[in-house]
Formats: sequence, C-alpha cells, structure tokens
Amino acid sequence: MVALTEEMKDLFKRTKIFPMATASKDGVPNVAPMATVRLVDDETIWIMDNYMVKTLANLQENPNTALYFYDPDTKRCFQVKGRCEVKTSGREYEQLRDEVKAKSDAYPAKSLVIIRVTGVFECTPGKDAGKRVL
Ligand SMILES: Cc1cc2nc3c(=O)[nH]c(=O)nc-3n(C[C@H](O)[C@H](O)[C@H](O)COP(=O)(O)O)c2cc1C
Repeated sequence: MVALTEEMKDLFKRTKIFPMATASKDGVPNVAPMATVRLVDDETIWIMDNYMVKTLANLQENPNTALYFYDPDTKRCFQVKGRCEVKTSGREYEQLRDEVKAKSDAYPAKSLVIIRVTGVFECTPGKDAGKRVL
C-alpha cells in the first residue's frame, strides 16, 4: 500500500463527489458518483454502499477500483487506484453505518467498501499527466 501526501489529503478532504470506477471480471467498465467517502488514514478509504448496483457486482468479482479527485480552484487532480474489501458487519462497517444513519435513517447503509490504496497518479493537465507519483 502507499500513503497519500499532505497535499493529496487536503485535496481529498475538500472533494464532495468522487467518480468511482470498477470493472467486471471480463473488463466491462463502470463509473458511478460517490459522496459518502472517508479518508480514514493515509492509505485507506471507506465508501458507504447505499445504492451501489453494478459497482457492487463488479467488486464481488474484481476488487480493483479507481477514483479521482479534482480541485477546480487550483486545477490539481489525482487518480487513486486500490483494492476493495466489502464488509456487511463488524466494527468498521458499524461505525460508518451509524454515522450515515444519524444523518438519515432512510439511507440503507448496505455495506462498507474499504479501499486500500495501491497507487496514485498525476491527473493534472501538463507535462506530468499520467505519471505515477506514489
Ligand atoms: C452526487 C451523488 C452522490 C452519491 N453518493 C453515493 C454514495 O456515497 N454511496 C452510494 O452507494 N451511492 C451513491 N450515489 C448513488 C449511486 O451513484 C447510484 O446509485 C448509481 O446508480 C450506482 O451505480 P452502479 O449501478 O454503477 O453501482 C450517489 C449519487 C450521486 C448523484
């Protein structure tokens, strides 16, 4: 796993919506917006599965994911790649479920997707675009 830098963490925490990409085992891609996204430590991201359908089906057969976060003010952008674990019970699941349910009991809080970051790539337009930074 790799640890996000302070700049990346700052940008991440200011991001409201994260496009989350997954793929089936046959390589059919999918992308969906996610907002209940938490950076729990320098190398771990949690996402609440409230309404995931194809995303969840993909993760059950292929744990790889990618997402990006972008700051329109500074134009900085990073891509994160990671491997996912899906949990429907346990302390970590209950922690995010309780937080989500406290906002509204209407959220189903079906499962917790834990992403362990495996790589970070530059996504800002320019000479370093696409380069691996972590
Ligand atoms: C702005 C926005 C934020 C969203 N955040 C989440 C989220 O955090 N968790 C979730 O499960 N669904 C979230 N959704 C809903 C999913 O993106 C939506 O159910 C989508 O259809 C799932 O796609 P999939 O079938 O590819 O999994 C959000 C949707 C929008 C528009």
